[in-house]
Amino acid sequence: MRVILLTGKGGVGKTSHAVATALGAARCGHRVFLLSTDSAHSLGDSLGCRIGPRPVPVADQVVAQEVGVLDELAYSWSEIQEWLRELLREETDELVAEELLVFPGLEELIALRAIRQVEAMREFDVCVVDCAPTGSTLRMLRFPDVLRIFMENFFDFERRGARLLRPLLERIHAKNLIPREQFFDAFERLYREIEEVRRILLDRTRTSARLVVNPTRVVVEETRRSFAYLCLYGVNTDGVIVNRELPAQAAEGYFSRWREKERSEIAAIEASFPVPIFHAPLYPHELIGKAMLATLSNAVYGDRDPAEFFLTHSPLRLFKRGAHTVLELDAPNIARDDVSVAQNGDVLVVHLRDAHRLIALPDSVLGKSVEEVSLRDGVLAVLFEA
Ligand SMILES: Nc1ncnc2c1ncn2[C@@H]1O[C@H](COP(=O)(O)OP(=O)(O)OP(=O)(O)O)[C@@H](O)[C@H]1O
Ligand SMILES: [Mg+2]
Repeated sequence: MRVILLTGKGGVGKTSHAVATALGAARCGHRVFLLSTDSAHSLGDSLGCRIGPRPVPVADQVVAQEVGVLDELAYSWSEIQEWLRELLREETDELVAEELLVFPGLEELIALRAIRQVEAMREFDVCVVDCAPTGSTLRMLRFPDVLRIFMENFFDFERRGARLLRPLLERIHAKNLIPREQFFDAFERLYREIEEVRRILLDRTRTSARLVVNPTRVVVEETRRSFAYLCLYGVNTDGVIVNRELPAQAAEGYFSRWREKERSEIAAIEASFPVPIFHAPLYPHELIGKAMLATLSNAVYGDRDPAEFFLTHSPLRLFKRGAHTVLELDAPNIARDDVSVAQNGDVLVVHLRDAHRLIALPDSVLGKSVEEVSLRDGVLAVLFEA
């Protein structure tokens, strides 16, 4: 089953584009499941009909569902999360663990478990997901890694009666968070389920994310960071959708300055996201109901099938090598002399001959200077100090 995640900053048009993508995919002959994992659901508002935690048909070949995130199960996970926070603080210095503690957002990942259920139905070709605003959400993709490190160590230590974790556990027990057995059961279940979800999300042969962005400075800056995180966690971002572009008529008159400003933001978008860019105009009205959202779908995808992969290989990669963080960027046909790298706050500015890329840096790299820049086989590697 193909999975397409629509995400982006709050209010940019994620829900509208999730519905538009679903309608477009159905028009191309796919059986589509439209899933909202944002706890502030608005699929129903967008489609102008009631949608709830049970799947309902909303259009020809499209079934929709809004996941009830705050069910009891999710509640128990939040207790586990508290535990983990305690443990991770002492347990790991992994790059990703640092990020996790800065941005907890487990609820979203729990909601994403619904993707497994959709897949298990075996009735759908495409699952389009209206995600919660970026920030906390997809950063949790590495959660299973942390869980695994914890599980391996924890169970191992338990079995061997090692002393290492004992004092820590005792301290946590003292807080009486939840009973021990219950914790283990919940923990194992959580681990298995989330690992499965993660496998789906990181599977580049079936899943891709699309970032919705508005051509304004604040939105572009935040989205740049989300893009960096998606790269960091290995999610394939196969498109950026620039939503609400002022039309050509706005070049004259009251909105002309706005439009000019937008043009420069669109240039910044092109410099920031080395992926296919799609465009949608600002309509003179809200987008409510199937007809309007089908129009939006046409504006964005035209004759293309929205379920297509618009990109399969990630042009930007972030990973850890020993104690160093490394950022890799594809830079084909560029000579080393044509490359310069400079840090500007939380953005890395990479000049490649006459083009430039603005790459937001994850929190774990902030304040660290660039130690080495190398170019080999068309791949630029930037090594940060440990
Ligand atoms: N291109 C557009 N032209 C005109 N109105 C739009 C456009 N895109 C979205 N809208 C309207 O903007 C509002 C917000 O859009 P939407 O609900 O899709 O955003 P969202 O990113 O899902 O928001 P949230 O973060 O609250 O979930 C809606 O009323 C929608 O109809
Ligand atoms: Mg929404």
